[in-house]
Amino acid sequence: MTPPTPPPTPPLLSVDDLVVQYHRPGAPPTRAVAGVSLEVRAREVVGLVGESGCGKSTLARAVCGLTTPKEGGITFDGTPVRPLKVRRRAPALTAVQMVFQDPYGSLNPRRRVGAQIADGIRTAAGRGEAAGPETPEDFLTRVGLPESAAQRYPQEFSGGQRQRIAIARALAARPRLLVGDEPISALDASAQLQVATLMRSLAVESGAGLLFISHDLSVVRLIADRIAVMYLGRIVEIGPTAEVWDNPRHPYTQALLAAVPQPDGAGRLPAELPGDVPDPSAPPSGCRFHPRCPRAFDDCDREEPQLIADGVACHLYAAA
Ligand SMILES: Nc1ncnc2c1ncn2[C@@H]1O[C@H](COP(=O)(O)OP(=O)(O)O)[C@@H](O)[C@H]1O
Ligand code: SF4
Ligand SMILES: [Mg+2]
Repeated sequence: MTPPTPPPTPPLLSVDDLVVQYHRPGAPPTRAVAGVSLEVRAREVVGLVGESGCGKSTLARAVCGLTTPKEGGITFDGTPVRPLKVRRRAPALTAVQMVFQDPYGSLNPRRRVGAQIADGIRTAAGRGEAAGPETPEDFLTRVGLPESAAQRYPQEFSGGQRQRIAIARALAARPRLLVGDEPISALDASAQLQVATLMRSLAVESGAGLLFISHDLSVVRLIADRIAVMYLGRIVEIGPTAEVWDNPRHPYTQALLAAVPQPDGAGRLPAELPGDVPDPSAPPSGCRFHPRCPRAFDDCDREEPQLIADGVACHLYAAA
């Protein structure tokens, strides 16, 4: 008899058919997130990629309870995430910590680094987690900075170092889920991979999940267990990193990969993506990607493809 397989660990984060809209006076609503389902498990790194304007930040903010979904649900650790009232952060959500592109989004330029990391430590304590023996200096050491950094101010550091400080501050709050919203986009090339790798190893070591948002597929490929590709508010392809990288199926994923620069300076594939992301307040009919898709055919402008079980939303694969 084969022993029963242990039940898979339930996801830490579960996003279910989420819709998030923005309203501007006199304009149709912008469906920045238009029906997204996604899971992140403990110790798992999910890379979320897509061009600017695809809804990545909106999804990240919804996960943190910072925006009110129009439809669908978000469950964190089995508990529904409810949008937060300003300045009243529910205890569960301090368990989700974000690191932004610009560390000034979370760092105060007028306070010493050590004091700001101490805030993170207090956040964990406020959630009822034992405060633990760690000091701000311990977290600085973990992100590769000297203990003396605690006495200095954020602007005394380089961009990469500031991002390490933001990570130390987030980690000090003992997150169960770390969300990085383009945390490496403002860094120079040499710092990018270092900071991304650091986020991965610290999240995984501490048993947290990591949702890592970037438009840089070449870095995501090196740190993510799974890659989710977002286009105009929808996930168009999702799968294990090696599968998506080696065998991209959605024409949009293929185009994104084609744009990844190679060490020899050439793109990976000959194709290039024409045009820009359309306005999400008036998405194209049928497949949202059809006006830019090199493989579009008859049905594509009429019917919206759904994300099928094997992780791709494209009519080319529906009948297979
Ligand atoms: N506060 C806002 N009000 C109105 N529209 C917004 C707002 N924030 C973002 N948007 C729009 O929502 C869409 C998705 O934006 P965003 O989530 O920031 O995408 P990404 O992070 O992938 O660049 C874009 O069309 C953007 O213009
Ligand atoms: S459904 Fe059609 S238009 Fe959309 S990605 Fe697939 S082939 Fe291209
Ligand atoms: Mg963004």
